[in-house]
Amino acid sequence: MRAKHGGNIYETAKKYGISEQDIIDFSANINPLGIPYKLKETIISNIETIENYPDPDYKRLVLAIAEYNNIHEDFVIPGNGATEIIFKIVQAIKPKKTLLLAPTFSEYERALKSVGSDVVYYLLDEDTQFNVDKNVLLEKLKDNIDFIVLCNPNNPTGQIIGQNILKEILIECKKRKINFMIDEAFIEFVKDEKNHSLIGSLYDFDNLFIIRALTKFFAIPGLRIGYGLISNQGIKGKIIDGKEPWTINGFAAISGEALLEDKEYIEKSKEFFELERKYMYEELQKIRNIKVFKPYANYVFFKLISKDIDLKEELIQRKLLIRQCIDYVNLDGSFFRVAIKDRDSNKKLIEGLKEVLYDN
Ligand SMILES: Cc1ncc(COP(=O)(O)O)c(C=O)c1O
Repeated sequence: MRAKHGGNIYETAKKYGISEQDIIDFSANINPLGIPYKLKETIISNIETIENYPDPDYKRLVLAIAEYNNIHEDFVIPGNGATEIIFKIVQAIKPKKTLLLAPTFSEYERALKSVGSDVVYYLLDEDTQFNVDKNVLLEKLKDNIDFIVLCNPNNPTGQIIGQNILKEILIECKKRKINFMIDEAFIEFVKDEKNHSLIGSLYDFDNLFIIRALTKFFAIPGLRIGYGLISNQGIKGKIIDGKEPWTINGFAAISGEALLEDKEYIEKSKEFFELERKYMYEELQKIRNIKVFKPYANYVFFKLISKDIDLKEELIQRKLLIRQCIDYVNLDGSFFRVAIKDRDSNKKLIEGLKEVLYDN
């Protein structure tokens, strides 16, 4: 089973005979501020790094991640993108029966299938904005579940689960000996991130596995850096013992250290997203024939209503690529996700949508 993801501009460019550079890609949720200036300098001045193997323990990167998150270095496992860590955690735990949200990021299910786990879904409801209802979820845990995966904010819906609800679920999971994995790949985009992350619970819960990524926030999908935060040293040891060496290349390791201490970029990005998210949400809400769900991260989820057109196709004719959510469990082709980009690009998308939705 190979999953489809946003960001495949190569396929789109080839299919439509358009140059990749001419496409504005709203299908991948990457910080439009681009890579921090200092990253270029770091990579260029460390070009000789590739003459050596990276430190197999990535000690400096681990320390940088621990410091950035204000936690103990023993809790950190760096990985080749968040995806590597998702697979490694699942393969170390080997759950028998897992509860997944639907819709959610598809790689969890692929990882679970690789170890033969049964999967049951909590089908999120459009009528409640795809929000997680604590009582429904707690009820579902009774179904012999031994592993749960949550994504906060969830991809593709952009909805957030409140920290209090998460803590209640975590306590119940601990009682029932259920391992709890939460993917916070987009959490840095959320306002008051600290009030939403579960990092503070790591010390008290050895059934908690947190996934983080540098990919989205630092605009480096091609470099591949993510990490896991795990207090359970037994499972962490199992992951490390079974992990191939040097999966993070030398440039990525050095870059990770530099990025996590770039406070200026971090602040600038947070300020940018607060403004631009508001702008996009307000402008998209004004457009007829779509229903927009309130965004909390760097992308907006919406539904096409009462219009019989191929929205994705129409927008590609205007060189605007958006993510149609047809391949997610519990969604159909009327749901779309668009990244929040720079103001000029966002305006082009809004204009494009109006043209397509009003003129057809
Ligand atoms: C929720 C979520 N987690 C993890 C990932 C993968 O991150 P990475 O590119 O760091 O492997 C994605 C990518 O789209 C994602 O949406």
